[in-house]
Amino acid sequence: MKKNELSELLKKMSIKEKVGQLFQPIGFAMMDDPAITGPLLESFKMRQEDVNICGTVLGMAGAKNARKIQQDFIDQHPHKIPLIFMLDVINGFRTIYPIPLAQAASFSPELAEECARMAAREAAASGVHVTFSPMVDLVRDARWGRVMESTGEDVWLSSQFAAAVTKGYQGEDIAAADKLGACVKHFAGYGAPVAGRDYNTVQLTERTLREYYLPAYKAAIDAGAALVMTSFNTIDDIPATGNKKLMRDILREEMRFDGVLISDFNAIGELVNHGLAADLAEAARMACEAGVDIDMMSSAYINNLEKLIEDKVVDESLLDESVMRVLELKNKLGLFENPFKGADEKLESELILCDEHRALARQAAEKSFVLLKNEGQILPLSEDEKIAFVGPYVDNKNILGAWSIMGKAEDAISVQEAAERILSGWDISINQGSPLLDADVKLEGFRGHEDEVYEQAAIDKMLEEAVTAARTADKVVLFLGEHVLQSGEATSRGQLDLPHVQLELLQAVAEVNTNIVVVLFNGRPLDLRMVQAKSAAILEVWMPGVEGGTAIVNTLTGQNEPVGRLPMTFPYSVGQVPIHYDTYSTGRPHRPGQDKDRFVSKYLDIPNKPLYPFGFGLSYTRFEYSEVVLDTDVIAVGSTITAAVRVTNIGDTDGTTLMQLYIHDVAASVARPVKQLKDTQHVRLAKGETQEISFQITEEMLRFNTADGRFDSEAGQFEVYIGDSSETENVATFRLEK
Ligand code: GLC
Repeated sequence: MKKNELSELLKKMSIKEKVGQLFQPIGFAMMDDPAITGPLLESFKMRQEDVNICGTVLGMAGAKNARKIQQDFIDQHPHKIPLIFMLDVINGFRTIYPIPLAQAASFSPELAEECARMAAREAAASGVHVTFSPMVDLVRDARWGRVMESTGEDVWLSSQFAAAVTKGYQGEDIAAADKLGACVKHFAGYGAPVAGRDYNTVQLTERTLREYYLPAYKAAIDAGAALVMTSFNTIDDIPATGNKKLMRDILREEMRFDGVLISDFNAIGELVNHGLAADLAEAARMACEAGVDIDMMSSAYINNLEKLIEDKVVDESLLDESVMRVLELKNKLGLFENPFKGADEKLESELILCDEHRALARQAAEKSFVLLKNEGQILPLSEDEKIAFVGPYVDNKNILGAWSIMGKAEDAISVQEAAERILSGWDISINQGSPLLDADVKLEGFRGHEDEVYEQAAIDKMLEEAVTAARTADKVVLFLGEHVLQSGEATSRGQLDLPHVQLELLQAVAEVNTNIVVVLFNGRPLDLRMVQAKSAAILEVWMPGVEGGTAIVNTLTGQNEPVGRLPMTFPYSVGQVPIHYDTYSTGRPHRPGQDKDRFVSKYLDIPNKPLYPFGFGLSYTRFEYSEVVLDTDVIAVGSTITAAVRVTNIGDTDGTTLMQLYIHDVAASVARPVKQLKDTQHVRLAKGETQEISFQITEEMLRFNTADGRFDSEAGQFEVYIGDSSETENVATFRLEK
């Protein structure tokens, strides 16, 4: 449709019909098992008359479903306006690849873009038009379960992934049959809840918000994200969903976002709980004035906006502005010309879980694994060894991640299945060893409860069998981890340790065999002190998706080298949390080795250093790095510095390392982080090979939110670090002259 045709359509609509376009129900009234991703409130009554005029629907998919529902809906709609079908496609549609935190560990945004493109192909063929992804909330607190959905603690890395994933979903034209509209979320600062407790208050200074939390949303918006989703939390004590400064001044004016702003699930209704709105009518007014276009799963708009406008409490121009944005989105999606878009049953069945998609999911998993420890090069395993595979994740297919709504565990390849396929002829015993969960833990997913019940006798028996197998093995590989539903939405935890029943298994095995490799399945950084103490090697595999088992076996046997690096700090203990590498020095910095100093910033009972730092990860070989060499030690606006380091593979096999460039602004008008990641490069070297790698340092890299509110660089001294983790001390200095 042309713009003027949209305006003509708008003019024909009654106020009630216009309000309907801003109402988003779950697809209850249209299909039998939509995904339920939020609280279904007694107060929220789904009236058919409201559903008949709604503009978009949440939580449904299926080509046949979508085509029928769309046709039936248009046939009955007074102006034949098509629906937009929206769904959380977070790490794949049906071919599920690693969770976003794992994708970030690959430090390969281009791979994440390819995965998003694949997810869009499957979802679009299944009738989905928009995905509520990428989630780009910066995170520093592993107590918050949604870190699994983020791309970690770093501003630069999260921004790279935000742009790449948006492009992967949207391509050049979201009207294309195999593309999705992307909805970047949750705007803003949702990843910083006080005490790591989901939905809790967020307390950020405006500078911190702008310096650390906003850039990744902006990267997605600059990449063309068609929608933005509001966050549940407050910003400066005003809930984001009713926050005019955040939504109109920052998002719309400064970031120049002119797409659709959708609330999170019932977030408009929750303005009452926040104590901002006295009732749903006031909540509707506040959200509408803040420029929230779509009301997801609250009755605030559908039950109140019409009267607010008739009573001239809300100007009809605000309603028209929001409705026009929704109609423009439908137009960009091509739904007026083709309301079925990519929905195609034959293509759907051909694409879902096809070999090409599985291969990509396997590659994404293999690139996401992080080798945290490998004492005595116990890994990779070899065929002439007697190996015991032990643990609740040996034969567990529930490895897709908490947001894999359309994914099915039965699609996944477990470790045991992969070993049976790939390692025939190897001497490998298989024992579960323990339950996954401690007895008192009850978990809830999108489709009901998940828990496991074992008699004590059965627990004792599986432990005894595992220890017997471990006793006579050359090496034991323990497959341990969180339950898939122990991370994700509404899963905040006060402790970060593994289920105690699994730690008991680790302890029992360690008493009979010290050659232990731990393979870790989890959605967040955990307290790994005991795992580190009792094992010779640790391989972090996160929630690896449908090809997880194959990717893990390929990595354990050296067919695949672990190249992942940590996108989020693993704390020594939960007492350090929130923790992140890009901290400020403080006035009394704790210097390593000077623990005797009393008046410095430290703890009495735990170290300052994390167990594993941001950017850390090992290879199956070892590397040596030369000092940092600069081609000049002065930079100005418009000029660059080339910073170079020679990298040598001093190990026994070919391998890949990730070179990381960090910058430190030594003195500025505000405190600046001791390091900030500004660039990375993967370097693959044959055994014994040396390569010189170089980075370009630009003045733009040095810009920040200055004390007087500008975004600019300031003249002075800088340090540049180049190494293979955020703890590198390989440093050179330069000066910015202005
Ligand atoms: C949930 C989540 C949000 C998701 C939405 C729709 O509450 O906060 O990330 O996209 O509801 O499912």
